[in-house]
Amino acid sequence: MNPVVLTTTDGARLEFDCSPGQSVLEAAAESGATLPAYCRQGTCGSCHASVTDGPYELGTHSEQALPPDERERGEVLLCRTFPCGPLAAALPYERSRILDGGIPVREAVVTALEPVARDTVRLELRLDGDLDCQFDPGQFMELQLPGSGAKRAYSLANTGNWEGRLEFFVRLREGGLFSAYLAERARPGDRLTVHGPQGAFGLHETGLRPRWFVAGGTGLAPLLAMVRRMAEWQEPQPARLFLGVNEPQDVFGVAELDAVAAELPGFRYDVCVWKPAPAWSGPTGLPADLFGAALPELAGATPDVYVCGPPPLVDSVLRAALLGGVPPEQVHRERFLAT
Ligand SMILES: Cc1cc2nc3c(=O)[nH]c(=O)nc-3n(C[C@H](O)[C@H](O)[C@H](O)COP(=O)(O)OP(=O)(O)OC[C@H]3O[C@@H](n4cnc5c(N)ncnc54)[C@H](O)[C@@H]3O)c2cc1C
Ligand code: FES
Repeated sequence: MNPVVLTTTDGARLEFDCSPGQSVLEAAAESGATLPAYCRQGTCGSCHASVTDGPYELGTHSEQALPPDERERGEVLLCRTFPCGPLAAALPYERSRILDGGIPVREAVVTALEPVARDTVRLELRLDGDLDCQFDPGQFMELQLPGSGAKRAYSLANTGNWEGRLEFFVRLREGGLFSAYLAERARPGDRLTVHGPQGAFGLHETGLRPRWFVAGGTGLAPLLAMVRRMAEWQEPQPARLFLGVNEPQDVFGVAELDAVAAELPGFRYDVCVWKPAPAWSGPTGLPADLFGAALPELAGATPDVYVCGPPPLVDSVLRAALLGGVPPEQVHRERFLAT
């Protein structure tokens, strides 16, 4: 047995033993602590942590979930981390993200489903029964396909509430299982099983440091939840959001972002389009470039950065942030990976 100590950002310690051949994630679950994780097979990156001491082996995993440079810095995926002796690791989230017991499973009803852009829909669900719907902005739910065991992760775009409301923005993917359900069969009134809230992505309290958000496509969902929370709580940090989409027909979320801007002083946002049409008058190019070009405006200060979307976008924002002098621990990221 190898002793493992995990420390959360708010200083809580979890101590348990890990059997040979057992991953840290499995051993934590055996001790009663469900850590944030999704695929449990090294492909999604959501069980990300940093080893601070001790030997370990990393099992097979995708380089998109854990790029080689992150691996070299001692970062790991806990579902693929096998201790070879006493091990200590830092978890990039607070104790409240660890569930004592399993992931909550509840029933919900589709209350709205509407297209908001080419290939993108807004899906709204209402929990059935108990309407206590508390979660942290940045978290996701796994939605179970009706009549099937298949589940997919979708980030919550709204904030915690007592009306049982869950809001999602979903990009419909050609040939995708859940995408086909939403595009062809889903109707208001459908019942779905929802698993969660889950996940480690979320706002970090670091005083008055500016918060900058970068989204690729539906990667906007968890970032929208974060800025909506900032507006609800009238948080004082200057906040700026960059949303990148491929073409003008892919733009969505503008009404929601305008509503935040109306309520949250110090919030502004830009939408940039990769392949603009002649009628597009806004910024063009990649959100990582726009973000990198704007960093000097802070005159040497560095923001906390929250980035979400497809892996290449997340990686390019991380590179731009490091190049602009932002320390890696100030860049919080969620990659929308297929599992
Ligand atoms: C933590 C987390 C949160 C997520 N939140 C959201 C969200 O808020 N909104 C959203 O639209 N998506 C989100 N995703 C992605 C989502 O879970 C599904 O992967 C996606 O909706 C496709 O599901 P599907 O059943 O339609 O396709 P599948 O049947 O799973 O796959 C069909 C085809 O599409 C490809 N594919 C599937 N997903 C992706 C992807 N993400 N990128 C590139 N190719 C892909 C597959 O390789 C396959 O070829 C999230 C993923 C994670 C890990
Ligand atoms: S849960 Fe570990 S990489 Fe997905």
